[in-house]
Parts: sequence; structure tokens; C-alpha cells
Amino acid sequence: MMFDSHCHLNDENLYPKIDEVIEAAKKTGVKKFLVVGYDKNSSLLAVKIADKYEECYAAIGFHPTEIEGVSEEDYNKVMSLSSHKKVVAIGEIGLDYHWVKDEEKRENQKKWFIKQIEYANEHHLPISIHNRESTEDCVEILKEHTPKYSGVMHCYSGSVETMDIVLNLGMYIALGGTVTFTNAKTPKEVAEVVPLDRLLIETDSPYLTPHPHRGEKNEPKYICLVLEEIARLKDMSKKHLEDVIYKNTCRLFNIDE
Ligand code: NI
Repeated sequence: MMFDSHCHLNDENLYPKIDEVIEAAKKTGVKKFLVVGYDKNSSLLAVKIADKYEECYAAIGFHPTEIEGVSEEDYNKVMSLSSHKKVVAIGEIGLDYHWVKDEEKRENQKKWFIKQIEYANEHHLPISIHNRESTEDCVEILKEHTPKYSGVMHCYSGSVETMDIVLNLGMYIALGGTVTFTNAKTPKEVAEVVPLDRLLIETDSPYLTPHPHRGEKNEPKYICLVLEEIARLKDMSKKHLEDVIYKNTCRLFNIDE
């Protein structure tokens, strides 16, 4: 049994064929999906999907590249859904310095990240974190505003050292398609040493398609490739790894197995 801890079935590439995508994934052993929002519409759609499909859960929030110009009204509308029984996390939230170079806009990202962590803390929810080329500031914020109900570094691509800091804050590490890339040195190192009880897997579909399907649109059905590669790197039975990761994911998001 696998749990795709971060996918975008709410994306325009997947949503039109969502029944097919879910069925194909279930055939490969995926039992649950966390559909992650990144702005107003995608968050509302994530909740709608979670409402309709028993195996789907939702995360709601504003991604760092989507925060410019968000009104207080839209923010409140999205966040009011946090009391919905299938909303299990605030995310994806965080920092992205790859796409945003402007200092003022980066400051604004920090403000929004902190605001959403505090919201999650007040509402007893874990967070799903997006961090791209912003590790130093991200870690500093997490130290000062530690998620009280934990959280996950989604598609973790940082170093082993940063991983240790994040683990010390009580958080989880999610590995995705990048761990399968033939030239992925650091994600493979992280996979080898990450403690079993803090590891999640994800697809981030339709992005980050695992090897050997790079170039195609990603789908949750490819998550088995991520699991296989981690099992190989950890020199561990796939079945055991799969069970542990599934339990970790349910524990973090407070979901009955
Ligand atoms: Ni994502």
C-alpha cells in the first residue's frame, strides 16, 4: 500500500482524466492521495476532489510564487476550509528564490510563509513545504516558527546536513522523482541515510516524472519507481519500506490507516 503524499490531481493536466488517473494508480498499489493546493482555485478544487473521492485528502494554501495580489477575502475563503474533515494539511507553502529574485518580493514570501505556519499551528494542522534555492531563510523561519503539528519538506532536494536540522525540528522528508534521476547524487545520499520513521514518498505529479519516464507527464501510478529506488539505496525489502512509509504518512496527516 502506498500513499502519494503530494500530487496535483487538481492540475489542468490531470483533473480532466482524474478517474482514469486514480484507477491506474490504484492498480499499482496506491491507496491514498494527498491533493495539494497552491492558490485559491487549486485549493478549492483539492477540497472538492477530497469530498468526492474517498481515497483523496486535501492540503490548502498559497505557494510562494502565487502570493502576489492575493486579497484578504480570498485568503480567508481558502483557509476557512481548514475545518473540513478531509483537509489534513496547510500547503504547499514556503519560499522560492529560483523564480523570484526581487528582494521585496522575497520578503513578502517570508511574511506569507510565516502567516500560514502560524495558521496551521492555531488550527492543529501539519504543513507541506516548498523550498527552492532558499534553504537558509527557510530553515531560519522553521526554527523561529516551528510547526507545532509537524510538516514535510516536499520533494526534498537539500543536503544531508539540512535534513538533520529539519529532522531535529520534528519534521518529515519526502522524496520524489528526483531520487530516481541517474545524475541525482544528493537525493540518493539523503535516501540512504534518512531515518525510516521520517520518510515519505510523493510524485508531485504532473511534475518531476521519475526515470525512465522523464519527458512524460507524471502521474501517481509512477510512485512505485520512487519506492523501488529508495528500497535499492537502503538495501531493504520493498514491502517493508512500503509499509513503514504508508504508516508514517497516515501518522503525519492524522489519517486512519
Ligand atoms: Ni507541488
